[in-house]
Amino acid sequence: MLEVRDLQVAYGAARALWGVSLTVRQGELLCVVGPNGAGKTTLINALAGLLRAREGQLVFEGRDVTMLAPHRFCDAGIALVPEGRRLFTGMTVLENLELGSYLARSKAQRRETLEQVIELFPVIREKLASPAGELSGGQQQMVAIARALMARPRLLLLDEPSLGLSPLIVHDLFAAIRHINAVGTSVLLVEQNVAMAMEVSHRAYVLEEGRMVAEGTPRELLARSEIARAYLGV
Ligand SMILES: Nc1ncnc2c1ncn2[C@@H]1O[C@H](COP(=O)(O)OP(=O)(O)OP(=O)(O)O)[C@@H](O)[C@H]1O
Ligand SMILES: [Mg+2]
Repeated sequence: MLEVRDLQVAYGAARALWGVSLTVRQGELLCVVGPNGAGKTTLINALAGLLRAREGQLVFEGRDVTMLAPHRFCDAGIALVPEGRRLFTGMTVLENLELGSYLARSKAQRRETLEQVIELFPVIREKLASPAGELSGGQQQMVAIARALMARPRLLLLDEPSLGLSPLIVHDLFAAIRHINAVGTSVLLVEQNVAMAMEVSHRAYVLEEGRMVAEGTPRELLARSEIARAYLGV
């Protein structure tokens, strides 16, 4: 459903991605793993339209979205849960969620979608009127994911959802991500928590210094000892 061809992204003179290609298939839960500074956030932000490709092409559901304006990506069916969650901490949880569905298309289904995200994350119901900044880290991550889901995306992009959360919370969060995928949303996940990402993903890519160095099912990658040792912490 998403075809990334030879993507190059730079910050001024500093090149961060050197011709990255990847494919997200319909219904897939895919992860991109790699060390600090590998370019994971750069990649996922480019896929969400927040960073412009210097070279290369993004094709989403058969449509070239490479030059699409950033705010059109959400409209096109791609939603991002950014690194560090980026909630409006002074606004209530409900207000944050409503921001996720400002598009005309998703606005019409706002109530229904809200019920769906609350079903996924029941704790959100009792927090709707609370300022988002008062929630725990795990709850904030749930709200960040819920906010992205309010746009009813067909592709959900997640940047390090497990960052700074306890193992128990991470476990619940990944169960939710799995569920989101199982009921029909394709997911591309960027993670430093390689073990967890490998456990839930259908397929994985390894990014290092702005280049893809390996691709395969978690089982295939873990069987390649040089990859497993260098990048997967095995
Ligand atoms: N706004 C920026 N301006 C200049 N260089 C940047 C900027 N953001 C990132 N970089 C550089 O681009 C490269 C890739 O960074 P990026 O944040 O994409 O990596 P990452 O894999 O997400 O790392 P982390 O695991 O720490 O989140 C790094 O060398 C980084 O220093
Ligand atoms: Mg990052």
